[in-house]
Amino acid sequence: MHSLWWETCKIQERQTLEKDLETQVLVIGGGMAGILTAYQLQKSGKKVLVLEANRIGSGQTGNTTAKITSQHGLCYHGFLKKIGAEKARLYARGNQAAIQEYENIIKTEQISCDFEKQSSFVYGKSRADLEAEAQAAAFLGLPASLVRENLTLPFPVWGAVKFQNQAQFHPLKFLHALSEHLVIYEHSPVYKVEENTAYTKYGTVKAEQIIFTCHIPFLNFPGAYFARIHQERSYVLALEHGMKTNGMYIGSGEHGFSFRNYGPYLLLGGMGHRTGEDASLPKYQQLRNLAAKWFPKSKELCCWSAQDGITSDGIPYIGPYAKGKQNWYVAAGFQKWGMSTSMVAAMLLRDFILERENPWEAVFSPKRFSTADLSFLCKEGGHSVKGLTRQLLADFQKTGKPPVCPHLGCQLTWNPEEESWDCPCHGSRFDKHGNLLNGPAQTSLSPSCSLKK
Ligand SMILES: Cc1cc2nc3c(=O)[nH]c(=O)nc-3n(C[C@H](O)[C@H](O)[C@H](O)COP(=O)(O)OP(=O)(O)OC[C@H]3O[C@@H](n4cnc5c(N)ncnc54)[C@H](O)[C@@H]3O)c2cc1C
Ligand code: FES
Repeated sequence: MHSLWWETCKIQERQTLEKDLETQVLVIGGGMAGILTAYQLQKSGKKVLVLEANRIGSGQTGNTTAKITSQHGLCYHGFLKKIGAEKARLYARGNQAAIQEYENIIKTEQISCDFEKQSSFVYGKSRADLEAEAQAAAFLGLPASLVRENLTLPFPVWGAVKFQNQAQFHPLKFLHALSEHLVIYEHSPVYKVEENTAYTKYGTVKAEQIIFTCHIPFLNFPGAYFARIHQERSYVLALEHGMKTNGMYIGSGEHGFSFRNYGPYLLLGGMGHRTGEDASLPKYQQLRNLAAKWFPKSKELCCWSAQDGITSDGIPYIGPYAKGKQNWYVAAGFQKWGMSTSMVAAMLLRDFILERENPWEAVFSPKRFSTADLSFLCKEGGHSVKGLTRQLLADFQKTGKPPVCPHLGCQLTWNPEEESWDCPCHGSRFDKHGNLLNGPAQTSLSPSCSLKK
């Protein structure tokens, strides 16, 4: 399954790291966060090198829906209550600045990536929720309003919160152009980082600063990011003869649908769930049924899926990696809004490394820990215990050794639609042959695992 982005963009392959090198800044992971960070630092005069496990853009970035917006669901009303007006305003400003920065880079570098300004909408049925969000967002200085007319949706809703002057683009055309002048090694997974040195199978890189933009850090400790972030998957269909929208849409609830156009195509997204859970109902089929109902003349061009990291307070972790690791940095947990927040990360991490002040630090700091984190950790612990218990039971029943996640030993769930083994604990995934697809696991499945579905 290839996304529309991979169907319409070729990125030239880069060589594998086969020697020992030194650089000023090492970026681990060549998705949107990594490439933007590398670009910002190189532009600021730093010598930068990117190590990518597979191909650049081959992670979640090549499978996104690529809306660039500061409207992240109905987040601002909640932020006002949970983190206060000052931090909520910084979050809003950072993401608005990110949209502007995309536009500046695209103009300066003359990148052809189908970037277009669009309004974004969060639609819903609850008048109270939408009114509260529109009010909160406007109070924070965002270009927000409440709208009830001219919503291009295939079903009735009460209304929507609209943000003007947001944007959409082709993520891989952008990534490709931006990466052209960067030093990148592909097919070079980092398996160990010790102080200033990262290790791959055929070579090492020694750097003054190391940045982890690998979606979820693969080291368990320090930082324990695997326990502070869980993964959620969603599914997308690209349809011909769908509908022409007047902006980018997403539903307000957990199970809302996403709509945007790319040229003549309509991208219909939804069916989100925690990775490794709820695999019984066929997600693509459900989306196809809805497409047939809403757009009877539509024809599917391609379908794909992706997952993203969710944090306890709905805010990504961007900043210094952990206590005692002075020269390590991280950007992870993008909440399915990593186009704008990858840019926030790139600018914030650049400023950290250049020792410039940046007020956004107060919002995104990975050091933050609250009561919400505690209950999140308990809930996450519950998921892990469930995954581990299932494994013990299956072992006990001696039905053959079930596939077990090499990360921390949870039992994997077969995902029939995507033909993958998915881990409910921290979101690692493996293809039907047991090859690693997504971390935090670092290795493929052991050959002794029975891959009976
Ligand atoms: C269905 C869906 C739709 C979405 N739509 C939107 C949207 O419209 N707008 C929006 O803002 N966000 C959206 N998102 C979220 C957005 O796509 C992600 O937040 C973003 O792509 C994450 O970028 P990243 O660079 O962190 O991760 P990735 O793109 O996954 O990049 C991480 C890279 O690190 C590499 N890597 C991993 N481990 C190692 C290692 N050990 N050594 C070297 N390299 C390594 C991987 O191979 C990968 O290429 C969506 C998410 C989903 C699930
Ligand atoms: S991802 Fe942690 S146990 Fe599977």
